[in-house]
Amino acid sequence: MAVDDKHLYVLVTGANSGLGFGILHRLIDSFLLTYPPDTHLTLLFTCRSHSKKESTLSDLLPLLSTTHGSTWSNRVKLSGRILDLTSLVSIHALSTELHDDYDIPRLDAVIWNAGMAALSGLDWLTFAKGFVCDTMNTLTYGHYKTQIVGARTKAQLEASSTSTSDKTTFHTSSPNGNSPTDTTPEDSTLGEVFCANTFGHYLLTHLLTPLLAASKFYGPTSVGRIIWVSSLEAFPRFFSTDDIQGLRSTSPYESSKRLTDILSVTSTLPAAEPFVQTFLPTEHNRPRQILTHPGVCATSIVTFLPMVLVWCMKIAFLLAKYAGSEYHTTTPYSGAKAMVFAVLARDEEIRGDVKYGSGNEKIGWFKCRDVLREEKVDFPTKSREEVAHTVWREMELLRVRFDSLRRR
Ligand SMILES: NC(=O)c1ccc[n+]([C@@H]2O[C@H](COP(=O)([O-])OP(=O)(O)OC[C@H]3O[C@@H](n4cnc5c(N)ncnc54)[C@H](OP(=O)(O)O)[C@@H]3O)[C@@H](O)[C@H]2O)c1
Repeated sequence: MAVDDKHLYVLVTGANSGLGFGILHRLIDSFLLTYPPDTHLTLLFTCRSHSKKESTLSDLLPLLSTTHGSTWSNRVKLSGRILDLTSLVSIHALSTELHDDYDIPRLDAVIWNAGMAALSGLDWLTFAKGFVCDTMNTLTYGHYKTQIVGARTKAQLEASSTSTSDKTTFHTSSPNGNSPTDTTPEDSTLGEVFCANTFGHYLLTHLLTPLLAASKFYGPTSVGRIIWVSSLEAFPRFFSTDDIQGLRSTSPYESSKRLTDILSVTSTLPAAEPFVQTFLPTEHNRPRQILTHPGVCATSIVTFLPMVLVWCMKIAFLLAKYAGSEYHTTTPYSGAKAMVFAVLARDEEIRGDVKYGSGNEKIGWFKCRDVLREEKVDFPTKSREEVAHTVWREMELLRVRFDSLRRR
């Protein structure tokens, strides 16, 4: 294994529950088992509060000790940080904290896992019909869930920190320095799901580019990795370039995941290049983007179900798994397969134009194994280049606008 520098630095967002916790656990297991004993891992993880940070550690440490004894801590260092992706102040604070930390000379990989779904309920009739007529499809794609439309973050700009005039406007410029845009303080909210799932991570990537550009772990000429966590449900029909924040969408979750797919697989196209240049401002060693999804696993992202239905969901997922579903990974540990692959694989094993999915394969009556799937990301209505140009331009305009808003 070609290891130029023997210390791997990884950052994982939203690690206190579900898939994020599974990623921490599986990444440490895989690192300890597959990398030589003289290699080390610093695993930074984020949560929304100090108590969640503490409970993550108190849940994880016994699992590691059971599998690896007490020696794991000679090679792995865990460090929790606070991050709320719907607050640009919190994103900037984390960036500053990491840049100022002498123990973190670089980041070799970041896993953008944190996410929310703003679910409001289930359309029980659609669910019942689907369950009877097409059970596996219904248990795989949650097209019967209902979502809050138009949910916004709090204002990113405190009213008290703005000018006394209600009519104050902020003049900002596009990434190319033309088309000034005016912004009023009232405009300083963002689509909540868009911000938590995509834009917050997008901004954090921009801010952390110097640390990612300093990556050394994968070899002398290799670069840092930005690992996006998407979904099976990121179908093109859920996203419109006229509404990139998904504010008018009845499926803002899927819209944010489709946007994630587009950003990740189009980042190396010439049509995106003028914007990627300002997004990842580095002369050399531009980090690469890798797209993943966890399949279907039972986590707390479904917030509104009573406990009895959560258990029904878990049992239904398990039955689907053992009936041969290729997507029901069911546990966060299995769902983490694709993300852990994206961190630990050699450069030449990874492609930037596909989506790596965690999957399931039935290998006996009551036996399944985790598998890695490589899936295409389709562009059925407009050309890849056309979509890339529009989406990257809009994202950079928004980033620059909010950046200058913040610096007022
Ligand atoms: N479960 C699945 O089958 C599935 C399928 C496809 C994709 N995914 C993706 O997998 C990722 C993890 O989801 P999950 O299923 O593991 O759900 P989860 O158990 O609810 O975990 C989500 C994590 O993200 C954090 N988070 C939510 N909003 C945040 C915000 N505004 N700022 C910072 N952190 C925030 C949560 O923190 P709190 O605990 O504080 O809320 C939690 O740590 C998401 O991106 C999701 O879209 C999951």
